[in-house]
Amino acid sequence: MHPKLPGTDRAKAARPLGRPSDKLETPRRKLPRETSGTTSTSPHLTALVRRRRSGWTLPQPFFRDPEIYQVDLEKIWRTGWLFAGHSCEVRKAGAYFLVPVDTDSVIIVRDRKGVLHAHHNVCRHRGSVLCDATQGILSRIVCPYHQWSYDLDGRLAAWRSMPADLDRGDFGLKPVAIREVEGLIFISLAKTPTPFEAAYRCLAPLLRPQGFQKAKVAAAADYRVNANWKIVWENNRECYHCNANHPQYIQANFDHYNADDTTPLIRQRMQEASARMEARWIESGLATHRETGMTPFPDAKRGIWFSGNRTPLVDGWVSETMDGHPVAPLMGAYTDPNVGTLRIRTLPNFWNHSSCDHGVSTRLLPAGPQHTVIRVWWLVDENAQEGRDYDLGKLMPFWQLTSEQDWEICERQQRGINSSAYEPGPYSPSKEYNVESFVQWYLKSLQP
Ligand code: FES
Ligand SMILES: [Fe+2]
Repeated sequence: MHPKLPGTDRAKAARPLGRPSDKLETPRRKLPRETSGTTSTSPHLTALVRRRRSGWTLPQPFFRDPEIYQVDLEKIWRTGWLFAGHSCEVRKAGAYFLVPVDTDSVIIVRDRKGVLHAHHNVCRHRGSVLCDATQGILSRIVCPYHQWSYDLDGRLAAWRSMPADLDRGDFGLKPVAIREVEGLIFISLAKTPTPFEAAYRCLAPLLRPQGFQKAKVAAAADYRVNANWKIVWENNRECYHCNANHPQYIQANFDHYNADDTTPLIRQRMQEASARMEARWIESGLATHRETGMTPFPDAKRGIWFSGNRTPLVDGWVSETMDGHPVAPLMGAYTDPNVGTLRIRTLPNFWNHSSCDHGVSTRLLPAGPQHTVIRVWWLVDENAQEGRDYDLGKLMPFWQLTSEQDWEICERQQRGINSSAYEPGPYSPSKEYNVESFVQWYLKSLQP
């Protein structure tokens, strides 16, 4: 039986798209005002990094100190490539959605020629926020304050009563770098973004058969999780916790097996599943990899912040659903449901698990030293109709339960880390190697 989990009330937690709301629908418990707590004097980052013992969790200030949070924003969130959303969410001309990155807000909008743009949501007159609603359709972007009016491509189209010697062309919206990979939209707030090409080359061939460009959002759920964004990632990077916390997930997947606790029988099952699937995927032309279970990721030394792979599900499971059966029509180029799961992950804010019939995207956004705003999307083929081809009651529970189980774990860990008794603890080398890899990537990202 599935445990009753706080916050799993689907009616509250999830909202099918098309019922936009400016507010998050799952306000979580309120934390007391964030302060630097036990770090009454400002921590010196370099000393803290030096103090960190390799293979052990980070010292407390990394999870709660407002100054370190600001460094995270500057070095990671305003430097790297962030997953924004899906191109199918802005299919029509004028369709837009907002991406809040702490105090920044970015408008993702499609212009009349079909080109996607990302603009800072800040008026060039006196700085008002332009769009409040989190999504919608625009013909122009008009500032509510004094009605300066911008074209969808960001150019200032009209203003009133301004000096004749000023050139409207100098007052376009500030652009944000934007790239699309097979229906996934990424943005970078950096003035000079890091190259995206290696990520594109890695992800595009893997994503292509999934068909996100011809998908639609069947449902989305918003969460405000009371945990530092790194706690959420650390949790994502290991399956040490899976047996005790994810009764649904472990039925479908091999991730929770590692070299130290597999029996010869399990190893044999994994190898057989891998070999069988591999042969099928080579035949059908799907990009593959030759490992089951947890993929090593990230890799700080090689600068790897993105990865993707296709991995088999356990025997009898063809989709990450409650009973392993597909719950929607095949997506994209798939002609056979036995495609395992396609998994994509990009730091600092995205992972996606996709089965033959649906895909689930998860996006993290920082909202304070101890707050992370998380959206989970369920995508199906664009022609699938709710009620006829899929039912949210069957589509959502697997990943809704798994996600909410994780958020609960993360909040509990944050509360423990906030205690004066917290001190760094050791990772399991066989189970938490990817958490150590994440921490190494993180610490490297902080370097000048
Ligand atoms: S602040 Fe936008 S028009 Fe004045
Ligand atoms: Fe988990």
